[in-house]
Amino acid sequence: QIELDQVARKILTDNDQGGYTVPTKGLYPYQWNWDSVFVARGFATFDTDRAWREIELLFEGQWRDGMVPHILFRKDDPSYFPGPSVWGTDGGPIPSSGHSQPPVAATIVRDLLELDASDAALDRAKLLFPKILQWHRWFMAYRDPDNLGVIAVIHPWESGRDNLPDWDDALRGVEIKDVAPYERKDTSHVDPAMRPHKEDYDRYLSIVAACRKVGWEPEKVARTCPFFVADPGITFILLRACRDLLALADRLGETAAQPEVEGWISRMETGAARLWNSELKAHVAMNLRTGKQSDGVSSASFLAPYAGLTDPEVLKPLREHFDRISAKVRYLMPSYDPEHQAYEHLRYWRGPVWAMVNFMIARGFAEAGDPGRSDRLRRDTAALIQTGGFAEYFSPETAEAAGGGSFSWTAAIWLAWAR
Ligand code: DGY
Repeated sequence: QIELDQVARKILTDNDQGGYTVPTKGLYPYQWNWDSVFVARGFATFDTDRAWREIELLFEGQWRDGMVPHILFRKDDPSYFPGPSVWGTDGGPIPSSGHSQPPVAATIVRDLLELDASDAALDRAKLLFPKILQWHRWFMAYRDPDNLGVIAVIHPWESGRDNLPDWDDALRGVEIKDVAPYERKDTSHVDPAMRPHKEDYDRYLSIVAACRKVGWEPEKVARTCPFFVADPGITFILLRACRDLLALADRLGETAAQPEVEGWISRMETGAARLWNSELKAHVAMNLRTGKQSDGVSSASFLAPYAGLTDPEVLKPLREHFDRISAKVRYLMPSYDPEHQAYEHLRYWRGPVWAMVNFMIARGFAEAGDPGRSDRLRRDTAALIQTGGFAEYFSPETAEAAGGGSFSWTAAIWLAWAR
């Protein structure tokens, strides 16, 4: 244990680029949005100043319209594709990708204050507060333009769960267009069997090209993007983050913001029902261009309690899915239902377990009065790391390490929770 703690701290300090941390060298050589925020939670276990710094540097890249990009390209690095020239954005002060990623910042900032509520920490939180508020406002305006109470992603990468089977149907509808010949870099770092297929990449790049054509203007992107899919993951993470933002407003004396945030919370609390698949009895994605729901339970379905949705009508079937899946695989929580035909135990988001998702699911179950299932997730996460090391993700069947190694958020989650 002590040895693993040391390794985890070393991964974070080795991946530190001087204030921000790369997820892993080579495969992901820039600052990624939600990676950084989880990393801050890991740093908070041994270096509070560094934890705040990580989040502050992420918000340095915030766009004028409030968006906080999924990647900040502080310096060009040929080991990654697609880099800044493919994105062609100019919305913010730092070259970046053109969309966002799951907004975990409010939740982790609240955690940081729980760990250390010194005046210095409160001052730093006060500076971040309006930026996070503006980011959430951007999501509500441009990723839920019709006030449905569900948050859409305009790209599978925005969900953070890139090649999830939930996107397959909507992605097939994206015409492959305006894509210059390209060379992937990810498959030179990682076994291609653990990464998305070429057909996925062709469409990922077609979506980037379509949004680039409308200058990444958020209203136009919302109206014209060939991919616009409501995501239970981002919806639940934002709903949770809004509750944490409300608590932060209280703590920081920012009460003027509270009615607006309360409005967002009730909009999503009501809207979440749209993602409920009554046959499956779980929340799933929905293609907002066609109204079609996806047909599988994903790890995000288990984030309903994390979002504060603890209605017995939701919790009971969720527990049943949890127990059913735990009888199928050795380690929870696979990113996709192992009984679904699209499940693949080693391919990125089509089956593997991710430590930071377990951290969020476990938190929700504990808060919903289910310490048993919550602790099962923690023990499984610890066992995966003890067996497979600090991998990007793991096989739920064999604990085989998959994706990138020496991975920052896996190290962070070890330090903050799994150990
Ligand atoms: C990648 O390049 O695979 C990243 O997940 C995109 O965010």
